[in-house]
Formats: sequence, C-alpha cells, structure tokens
Amino acid sequence: LRTRAWNAAMAASPGALDLDVLAPQVSGVTPLALRGGRLLSNGPGWTSIGGVTAHPFDGHGYVRAFEFLEGGGLRLRARFVATPTYRAEAEAKRLVRRGLATNVPGGPLRNVKPGPSRNVANTTIVRWGDRLLAGREGGVPFGLDPSSLETLGEADFHGVIAGQATLAHMKRAPEGGRLVLLSLAGFMKPHLTFREVDAAGVVVSKAEAALPAPLFLHDFAVTDEWYVIAGNPVRPLPARLASSVLGFGTLLTSIAPDLERSPVLYLVPRRGGPTRVVRLPGPAFVVHFGNAFQRDGAVTADICAFESFTFGGEFGYSGPHAPFDPSLPDARKPQRLVRLTVPAGQDVATATVLSAHGIDFPRVHPGWEGRDAALLFGATRADTRHSDPFDSIIRVDLRDPQRPPQLWTVPDGCFVGEPIFVPEDGREDAGSVLAIVSDGGRGETRLVVLDAGQLAAGPVASVTLPLLPVAFHGDWDAAAGRA
Ligand SMILES: [Fe+2]
Repeated sequence: LRTRAWNAAMAASPGALDLDVLAPQVSGVTPLALRGGRLLSNGPGWTSIGGVTAHPFDGHGYVRAFEFLEGGGLRLRARFVATPTYRAEAEAKRLVRRGLATNVPGGPLRNVKPGPSRNVANTTIVRWGDRLLAGREGGVPFGLDPSSLETLGEADFHGVIAGQATLAHMKRAPEGGRLVLLSLAGFMKPHLTFREVDAAGVVVSKAEAALPAPLFLHDFAVTDEWYVIAGNPVRPLPARLASSVLGFGTLLTSIAPDLERSPVLYLVPRRGGPTRVVRLPGPAFVVHFGNAFQRDGAVTADICAFESFTFGGEFGYSGPHAPFDPSLPDARKPQRLVRLTVPAGQDVATATVLSAHGIDFPRVHPGWEGRDAALLFGATRADTRHSDPFDSIIRVDLRDPQRPPQLWTVPDGCFVGEPIFVPEDGREDAGSVLAIVSDGGRGETRLVVLDAGQLAAGPVASVTLPLLPVAFHGDWDAAAGRA
C-alpha cells in the first residue's frame, strides 16, 4: 500500500489548475492572519514523460499558489514553468533534453553530445519584488508573473547572472531587503560568487571565494557578516564519469562523497576578506541549512546532515522504467538536525544534535532567518530510524532542545513535505504552520493549517484538493498576487 501511495503522490500530474474551495467546504476555520496571503510551492509536476520516468530532479517545474481568501475559502492556481525544455517536451510529448539524472531514450548516441541545459525550474519558489522566482540547481531562476503565474523568462538580474550555474536556494539577508544568490563555476576548483540583489533586482553587493577542492553545494545560510556553506567533499567517479560523458550513465551518479577529506564549513565574508575554513567534529553531508546567526563573535549554524550519501536514488527513484521505491530512502541512515557553533577566532566547530528524529526541510520564522530564532519546523518520520519519505511535521525549540519536540503524524498512505511557518502579529513563537499532505492512498492532497503552539493537536483547518505531485520547496507570500 505504501509503495502504491508513494508512487501515486510522486507521479501525480494534474496540469494547470484554477479552482476555488468555498469556505463551507473548508474543514475547520482558516486563521484570520493567513487571509490575503498565500502559500507558494514548487516541485516536479510532470515526471512520466513519453513513457520515461524522469528523476524528480529532472521533472518539469510546477508552481502552486494556495491563496487564503478573505471569506475563509481557498484559491488554488497551478502552472508549469514554461521553460524552453518544458515547451519542447510539451510539443514533442516525449523527453528531448538529457537531465542531471535522466537520459533521453534511444541509446547513448542521443545523450553523448552536451545539448542545452535541462533547467526545469522545479526546486524553489520565492516572491521577490514584482515577480516570483522559480529556481533550479545549476541554472538561472525563471521569473513568473505573481498573479497569473505566467512564465516571463529567465530572471538574470539585468544580465548579471546570465548563463551562470546558480543554486536553486536563494536566501534573504537578515537585515531585510536583500536576496542572496550563489553562482558556481568550475568543479575541481570551485569558484563561488555571492550576489545580493535589492527589491528592484539590482545587484548591490558581490563577494567571491575560490575553493581548493570539489564540493556538493545545495544550500547556504546568511548571517550579519558571513555566508555559511558546507564544504561537503565529493570526488568524481572516473569510470562513471566516462560512462556519463559517453552517454550511458548520468552526471548525478558520477560523483560520490569523498571520505578521505574531512568535512568543513566555509565562512565567506559578505564584505570582503579571507574565507574561513572551519573543521567539523564528525562526518556531515549537509543538504539543507535550518538557519545561522552570530552572537558575541561566534557563528552558529543549524544543519540537516547525513553521515554520508549516495546519489541517484532520491525519492526512491529506480530508473526510467521502474516505480519509485520508498525502501531506498528507508535504507539510508536519517539526516540529523545538528547545531554547529564556531567560537570567535577559532577554526573548529562544536556540534550538538538537536533532535532524536531524522529531520529535513528545516524552516524558521521568516523574520528571524540569520538571527537567533526560537523555533524550527521540519519534515520528519515518527520512527526515529528513518527520515524520508516523511510522515510527520516536527517543532524543535532551538533555545531549549531538551524540551520534547512537538510532532504531528499523518495516517498510513500519506506523506508530508516542507512545513512553512507563518508568524502571527510579529511574534516569534506564535502563528500557523502550513503543510501539504499527499494522500496517495485516497488520491487527494490536503493543505493543512497547524497551530505552531499545539502542533500535536492536529490541523485547525484543512482543505481537500485533487492529488498534487510531491513538492520540494515553498514560501509564504503575504502580499499574495499583488505586484
Ligand atoms: Fe533544497
């Protein structure tokens, strides 16, 4: 049942949607503080392409906007990001561009030539200025009209990041008013360029770092003075890389964690100066940052870290002609939420595990990113031996991690993704937690509203929708569609 439900949720592809759920159809009552705002969400929305199951990283970006209406109802609008790859494949009705982890059918000759990049804008969604930005690893984000969700084209910030491999994750600086983008060039000796853009999309600051060895980069954090990145050491697997170049294998499975090198944290100064290299006390393969902040010269970063990682089977992906197999992520040791603290002037971090649960998709109060946030919410598993696929939402008290966490678990056949915390009245510890429940068993998706103070009590409001594909990342847009 679980495998069938997971496959239903991963493969759901309802296409463009515009639907209103009237207030009487909402179970419970949506909090007044949410009304007029909306939850944005992005993730692959078309993965079975012409009979080939694409790796979720290669599925077409599908942006969803769940708007809480003033009268208590909910409006869902969903659109594909109309990237050149999407347009080509929608027209051809088959996979035409090779991806990070998916090859075009028809043999190696069809994959040997590096064609145009498969930037499917499927990973993140951020409201910035007068548009939405849909990001994907290794590409330039795509800009969308905030009301219609119509794709406006690559958002290259007046050409500044045109053609540059940019991280899907974009971060708000703690002082507000600035969005930080990270572009990456080179593999063996990576060159990083951080840029901060203002609300008008003008680059107002830039910092660079040259690193000595290959690393896996997916996320970062921003404090008052530092960009914090994990130096997850990786190495190319020569035989697999050759196979990928020749069109047989894929790029994603051509790299592996390099266990010979110690994991480090890099602290790159936001306003010039040398990059600090901080040794970590144990193995840590960091995918996501929960948050980071500075106090009395010390830098603290909350990370979600695996002990190690094997690329390729994410979300249970088992190849172009096999169902998703949730036992693949089940078999992996779960990632841990760990607080790293770098004392002033030192180059070794201390580590404290903040929860017995395996946690990913960590989020804090949006106004406390880069500051000492009180609460962290994440996706987890009730069974502490596993993490994804997730069946629970967890709340961790960062200032008192000994306090038992609050947990809300969904029924069998249901899965949850990244929780988004929407604070109420500027308070740091009160508000709503929004989560999307994929009920693959019953063939429906539920958008649930949890009370951040009473997570375990279950939803205060729940809206039943058609089954939507499992999403990656989301964001809260207080201004809804108003540009
Ligand atoms: Fe991510």
